[in-house]
Amino acid sequence: MKTEILNDRNPEDIKRAAALLADGKLVAFPTETVYGLGANALDGEAVKRIFIAKGRPQDNPLIVHISNVDDAKKYAYTGKLFKKISEKFMPGPITVIMPKQKNIPDEVTAGLDSVGIRVPLSKTARKLIDCAGIPIAAPSANLSGKPSPTKATHVIDDLNGKVEAILCGDDCLVGVESTVVKITDENSIVICRPGGITYEMLKSICDNVTVDPAVLSKFDGKPVSPGMKYRHYAPNAEVNIVIGSENKIIEFLSDKLDFGIICYDEDKKLLTYKNSFSLGKHENSYEQAAKLFDLLRHFDCIKDVKKIYARIPEKQGVGLAVYNRLLKAAGFNVIDLGQNCF
Ligand code: TXA
Ligand code: MG
Repeated sequence: MKTEILNDRNPEDIKRAAALLADGKLVAFPTETVYGLGANALDGEAVKRIFIAKGRPQDNPLIVHISNVDDAKKYAYTGKLFKKISEKFMPGPITVIMPKQKNIPDEVTAGLDSVGIRVPLSKTARKLIDCAGIPIAAPSANLSGKPSPTKATHVIDDLNGKVEAILCGDDCLVGVESTVVKITDENSIVICRPGGITYEMLKSICDNVTVDPAVLSKFDGKPVSPGMKYRHYAPNAEVNIVIGSENKIIEFLSDKLDFGIICYDEDKKLLTYKNSFSLGKHENSYEQAAKLFDLLRHFDCIKDVKKIYARIPEKQGVGLAVYNRLLKAAGFNVIDLGQNCF
């Protein structure tokens, strides 16, 4: 298939992308979190093609993107807690799972009776949805299992020839996917996937916020969010998270060959190694989130890296999302060399 490469700076290109979506075609587009691969959320046949293009497991539901919070009630049974969340954090990097209305086809929700609703902050994404005049079902625009795309070039690498169009825009500001929350009753929020809207932020509007166990540990049961059970975000090389001081890590690496390192600006000694990269300042989780997927993808371009050792990030704020994505890239492999001291 010939993929049209469009540019979000050109209003005609946004119109073209919207017309393709309204016509049941697949279009990748930028959001503030990661690029998404969109289809008309009300058209089950169009949505089916997303799963084929990505190689996505059939049981993993898609998020429905709308441009205006008021439209949420057309597609989901919203309540008081949704109102609170949306007033404070929408548009923004958060998805709320609620009981679905009948008009959302089973292809979107993988047969579940709930639907995830998100209002992106990205102006391009909202213009596109407005212009198409339909809700857009969209997972991240990567091949299934690969790190999510935060740059237009990542999408072109993964999906050129597989979708009708790619609307190229700026690099994604947040860099990790939206926080996915489920409203369990009108007083409780479960975080199924951490992201740009943090635990601490949600706590400011609701006393009872919990983190689903699948976020921080390998979970054999049934996670609230089906996507949490898949190995994700993985470069070709095996990833391991390492806990320990810089010196301990250097000692650990002394008999190892063909490895890459993910660390922080403060890790001056580790940064002298070949194939060692900083995610930014250790305390700046926002910077780390924005850089993480690009770095994981970059490792696939380096031939002699067979293993990647990632120093454990801070777990506060957006750091929880960075840690969760690294854990998943590592298949939850954590090597504990003793106390982590920065
Ligand atoms: O930031 C984002 O959320 C990006 C951009 C494109 O908006 N989208 C994204 O979609 O990351 P995806 O499909 O890669 O991840 C959606 C996650 C999956 O873990 C899925 O299982 C979960 O949301 N999810 C979607 N609908 C759900 C539902 N009804 N119940 C439980 N989990 C749901
Ligand atoms: Mg994804």
